Amino acid sequence: MRLRSIVSLQKRWLIITLGCLSFAASIHLSFGQERKIDSMFLELDKKYRMPEQWSVPPFDLEDPYKRIKNGPPLVNILYKANVEWLSRWIANPKTVVANAKMPNLGLDFDEIKAVIVFLSSIAEKDVPQVTWDNFLLKKEDDLSEDEYDKMDKVFNFGKGVWGRARCTICHPIKGVGGNVGVGPDLGEITTKINRNWLHAWLGNTKNHFPDTMMAQYRFTDQDVRGLVEFVMRDTQFIPEEKEDEEEGTGQPKPETQVLTEKEFADIRKDTALIEKGRNVVEKARCFVCHDIKGISELMPVVEKKRDGLAGFEKLLYEIRCLTCHRIQDKGGTYAPNLTFAGSKIKMNWEGEFLQAPDIIRPLSQQMPKFNLAEDEAKAATEYLEKNLVFKDLLLDFYKDGPPTAEIIASGEKLFYEKGCNTCHAENITKGGGVVGPNLATVGDRLQPAYIVYHLKNPQQANPQGVEPNFGLSDEELKQLVGFLMDHVKKKEGK
Ligand code: HEC
Ligand code: HEC
Ligand code: HEC
Ligand code: HEC
Repeated sequence: MRLRSIVSLQKRWLIITLGCLSFAASIHLSFGQERKIDSMFLELDKKYRMPEQWSVPPFDLEDPYKRIKNGPPLVNILYKANVEWLSRWIANPKTVVANAKMPNLGLDFDEIKAVIVFLSSIAEKDVPQVTWDNFLLKKEDDLSEDEYDKMDKVFNFGKGVWGRARCTICHPIKGVGGNVGVGPDLGEITTKINRNWLHAWLGNTKNHFPDTMMAQYRFTDQDVRGLVEFVMRDTQFIPEEKEDEEEGTGQPKPETQVLTEKEFADIRKDTALIEKGRNVVEKARCFVCHDIKGISELMPVVEKKRDGLAGFEKLLYEIRCLTCHRIQDKGGTYAPNLTFAGSKIKMNWEGEFLQAPDIIRPLSQQMPKFNLAEDEAKAATEYLEKNLVFKDLLLDFYKDGPPTAEIIASGEKLFYEKGCNTCHAENITKGGGVVGPNLATVGDRLQPAYIVYHLKNPQQANPQGVEPNFGLSDEELKQLVGFLMDHVKKKEGK
């Protein structure tokens, strides 16, 4: 056993012991005694508390996965979703959106009506009304040929934005995609929302839902209008014709009762019904997952103060980098871990990548194009370089000058001997495997010390990584790293 793992084992024991101590302390507390913590405990805690290898960031990183209420706020829900959709949803979420997380609360139709009327009574403000060209509000069949062509242009522009934005990383469509695992299935979204709401949402997601995990893209108004046209019209967002029969039984499906706009208009001001709705909401404990005006006092939410955010902290909040990436012990696992990005990546490359991501890993999903401005990218790279560094990573093979031609040549030989090319292309024209990242310009992207660290033990850098540990000698490492550092843009396609 290596020395380091013995140390970490001892730490683990210590954590278990400390855990028991704090358990004991909490038992004391439950017997109504004042909490007294042994000073030895405090000292030990201070000595062994995380972080271990990483530096302390200048601000608390917010984990988007740890929000207080997992459901969206319901105050203005009537401006987002139509009442027919709402009645089907509250009756049984999973039959409306396949990947719904909200449980079926077993309410009957009268209770559901009351809940919707109550929710409408607490609504505060409608989304801003957008001015649309008249023909964009028409159904496809009603468009003249000329109007159709104009609509089609906006639609196709939006389709392009949709593709670059990679919305399907987070959102499945009719069960396909959504690998990050956080967004609702958008396969029937046109039955729920309206174009004004979608315009407002894509322009600023945080206005409606401050804790949302969705990225706030830097869209222009033209981008947003294109996206709205695409989402409101493309068939992938419209339900497929449903069978009227229940599968296999030959029996007609039992009808779910839905609230129509007409019935809603008749009952929406009924104060007795509003009161009933409030009661149902309280009894059904909707507030455990939702912030609901007038009800939330039962479970007060301390609102996060985010007004003064600036620099990288602001960017993290707005783009929600940590929905996909992980930094230290916060965030998701879909995208590369950024905890040591400052020791791994070359910042010139990083700045360009953030503004216009290119493809690194051909097989997996790529980073969406958020349209970050130059100063935003700069705030990110400066933060990464300063704060997300690996203190143990001291060795730098080539700090005294670039590798010699001889080293590069032996590195190239090794690269093919070891079969690195079965998973990596090292050159755009030569081709190679696509399981691992393309290495054609890896010298622009990665720092040599990181490549050494990675090649010494690929699983140390990424425990899930499939790259085998080749047990390379220092001499072999020097050659391979020299060869890879020589892969820079100016030589691309040599
Ligand atoms: C980082 C992941 C992520 C990306 C990327 C993303 N979304 Fe979302 N989106 C979400 C989440 C999560 C929600 C639900 C709100 C929440 O829980 O925070 C959501 C909600 C929505 C909604 C409302 C759906 C509903 O039923 O309430 C729409 C519409 C939407 N997103 C469209 C888009 C579009 C269009 C794009 C691409 C331009 C996109 N999203 C990109 C995560 C994402
Ligand atoms: C256990 C948690 C939980 C409870 C309890 C709960 N919800 Fe939800 N609700 C959610 C989640 C999570 C969502 C987001 C969509 C999803 O399920 O993925 C949601 C979504 C919704 C939506 C759609 C919101 C939107 O912006 O699209 C409505 C409306 C709603 N809930 C109403 C209610 C009502 C009314 C109650 C009580 C009768 C209730 N919920 C109880 C978790 C819950
Ligand atoms: C919707 C998910 C998502 C969000 C949000 C996101 N990224 Fe990424 N990012 C990715 C994916 C996927 C990759 C891997 C790209 C590839 O390999 O081609 C990536 C790659 C990167 C890389 C290169 C990492 C490496 O080790 O190769 C950096 C740095 C990065 N992102 C920073 C950021 C920052 C900073 C933000 C917030 C401003 C952000 N990302 C937001 C998905 C995301
Ligand atoms: C079985 C397939 C496979 C083989 C063989 C392989 N790699 Fe990899 N390699 C990968 C994968 C997959 C990744 C991406 C790991 C990740 O995303 O964290 C990777 C990552 C890398 C990286 C870091 C790239 C980055 O952006 O994180 C370098 C450098 C690298 N490999 C070099 C090599 C060299 C040199 C060899 C031969 C000695 C080799 N690889 C052999 C699959 C392989």
